[in-house]
Amino acid sequence: MTRKITLAVALIIATVTTSRADEGMWLPSLIGSRIADMQEKGFKLDAEDIYSINQASLKDAVVLFGGGCTGEIVSEAGLLLTNHHCGYRQIQSHSSVEHDYLRDGFWAMNRSEELPNKGLTVKFLERMEDVTGIILKGCDESRNEDERTKLIDENSKKIIEQATAEGNGLRASVEALYYGNQYYLFIYREYSDIRLVGAPPSSIGKFGGDTDNWMWPRHTGDFSIFRIYADKDNNPAPYSPDNVPYRPKKFFKISTGGVHEGDFTFIYGFPGSTQEYIHSEAVRYIGEVSDPQKIKLRTIRLGILKKHMDSSQKIRIQYSSKYASISNAWKKWQGEELGLRRNRIVAKKAQYEKKFAQWAEGSSYSGLCDSLASLYKTIEPYRFAGELYNETARTVELASYASRISRCFSKKDGNVTFDKDAAGEIASAFFKDYCPDIDKECFIAMMEEFAESIPEDFMPEYYKRMILKYGSVAAWADEIFSTSAFLDENFIASLSECDIEKAEDDIIMDFYNGFLKWYSKEIRPSVERINARIFDLNKEYMKGQMEYSEAVSDGRAFYPDANLTLRVAYGHVKGYSPADGIYYVTSSTIKGIIQKDDPNIFDYNIPQSLRDIYASKDYGKWAGESGEIPVCFLADNHTTGGNSGSPVINCNGDLIGINFDRVWEGTMSDIAFDPERCRNISLDVRYLLFTIEKIGNASWLFDEMVFVD
Ligand code: ARG
Ligand code: ASP
Repeated sequence: MTRKITLAVALIIATVTTSRADEGMWLPSLIGSRIADMQEKGFKLDAEDIYSINQASLKDAVVLFGGGCTGEIVSEAGLLLTNHHCGYRQIQSHSSVEHDYLRDGFWAMNRSEELPNKGLTVKFLERMEDVTGIILKGCDESRNEDERTKLIDENSKKIIEQATAEGNGLRASVEALYYGNQYYLFIYREYSDIRLVGAPPSSIGKFGGDTDNWMWPRHTGDFSIFRIYADKDNNPAPYSPDNVPYRPKKFFKISTGGVHEGDFTFIYGFPGSTQEYIHSEAVRYIGEVSDPQKIKLRTIRLGILKKHMDSSQKIRIQYSSKYASISNAWKKWQGEELGLRRNRIVAKKAQYEKKFAQWAEGSSYSGLCDSLASLYKTIEPYRFAGELYNETARTVELASYASRISRCFSKKDGNVTFDKDAAGEIASAFFKDYCPDIDKECFIAMMEEFAESIPEDFMPEYYKRMILKYGSVAAWADEIFSTSAFLDENFIASLSECDIEKAEDDIIMDFYNGFLKWYSKEIRPSVERINARIFDLNKEYMKGQMEYSEAVSDGRAFYPDANLTLRVAYGHVKGYSPADGIYYVTSSTIKGIIQKDDPNIFDYNIPQSLRDIYASKDYGKWAGESGEIPVCFLADNHTTGGNSGSPVINCNGDLIGINFDRVWEGTMSDIAFDPERCRNISLDVRYLLFTIEKIGNASWLFDEMVFVD
């Protein structure tokens, strides 16, 4: 057994192997090691076209949009595309009763009508650098875990300071890859004058709503359009009417030539988080314990929300966005749990670990898998308690509202101040969308579930005291929801700095703090301590897996887990079979929108203009070969949350779509990618162009785009 091979060599050897499937999220600066495989699969450009620090490359047309989406530049005047669900908050913030842009859509008819957005930024990656040597300098065996962590933090801080000192709007971060076997420095340029240019009505941009979310066949026109503004020298600058459209180093040309089964596709974006290399015990916990528990709790909450939403139009509007976010992860976990089970991932991983352990005997990796297994078992009840807390006590709306208000009080040298304006804003936003009956019903259900699921010896003393005092969860809820001062909309207006006790001693703050104290004292310290140990062992295990692969020549290709850094995923336009007897083809069309159209169902009630266009077949030049407007398509690119809004690029480097989702049967791709069933869902760029022209009457935007085909 060769154990001489260094990690660097292992990384290179591992990554030049042709991957068997289109799995992987690759670092753009190392794409040279994948380019032969990409070209073999149909890509016509070179590595330098994807990422270069010497010339403009495709990376210069991709941005991290807001805190967790991707966007792409499509004109030399900084025009940017992303998803409707990524721009949702901005579209909503400009909406009022008179101008309901969420409902009706928004289209600037010239640049002066574009709307600025407070707090929204985009980041371009300037460059990335391997800084492992610098970050790990001095981190040797002579230091203990804590000392090493401290040193890594200090070393990171230093290079971040150096990197950002160089210029305007620079931001930097150091990220661990392969569990700290490598460290990379990422340097970004951040722009903060980003204006809303266009958005379709939600009946197009969110067509299908939560019913169609994570599903195929899909017909959502999930896009919105923004523009980046800069100062006269093209530098980042805060909003100013004097700012001018940003001139990008690179932008995407748009291909309207169509999308066909088997076509090469490539996604450039910011995937958030994956865990492809974890131990079978960790996967077992996710698939058999955590996901089922969270799904069960959310099913109950969604049921309560739905009941109230169905009974009142006002509540439906108030809770639709909350419902969407509860249901988004709920549906994803169901797919994940199913996918892990169906593919027997735990058993397969366990088998792999057995072989790994045999190979590792007598080496420094000996016993590693057993140690990991035992640590995962040790952490399990703590992790479970933490997740239970998150999904129950922390979902009580009144409690999180009260805690945010109490944070508007601050104490300094015995003096108390109260930021009344901030508190007032929090209060009005809260009450606009709050229904105490829903909150109380969820409180009762979640507290009962908490007691049922928490192991006896983890039960918070606070909880026991409350049950002793009130006799039942229902009586406890009666007391909170009839006496808390925070239920009164006028409470905040009556508060001043002298009233800190009124806020802090309120019954709902007592609830909030009772749980928080339990979690911070009895759960979090153990989670953090054991997690640090797990991270360290995973660093070893990661290295071991690479060496093992090399030793047995299994052709496994390693890519670092996603961590919201820029990645390339490539593959093909491809359908799939979700179950025996069913096959899903690659593309959907406007015909499917009309089939689903139903004025009585909110999620499927399309604008009348779209019905009229369908009837008259007035499609402009955007119809596909079938004569219909193409809407969405499937591909097997490896994506995850954060990839929303990512450009979908063809073999020539031109834009054919915008990524926005995956199919639920394949969401276990965050843990194990199954080429049979993992598919990403993209909006066909022709549906976007059609909507701009025919629904938005905003074809002035075409003047600055460049079309090919
Ligand atoms: N499932 C997609 C993602 O995880 C889209 C979510 C937004 N759409 C919705 N109907 N909730 O972000
Ligand atoms: N919908 C996700 C996002 O917003 C993408 C995914 O999970 O596939 O990033």
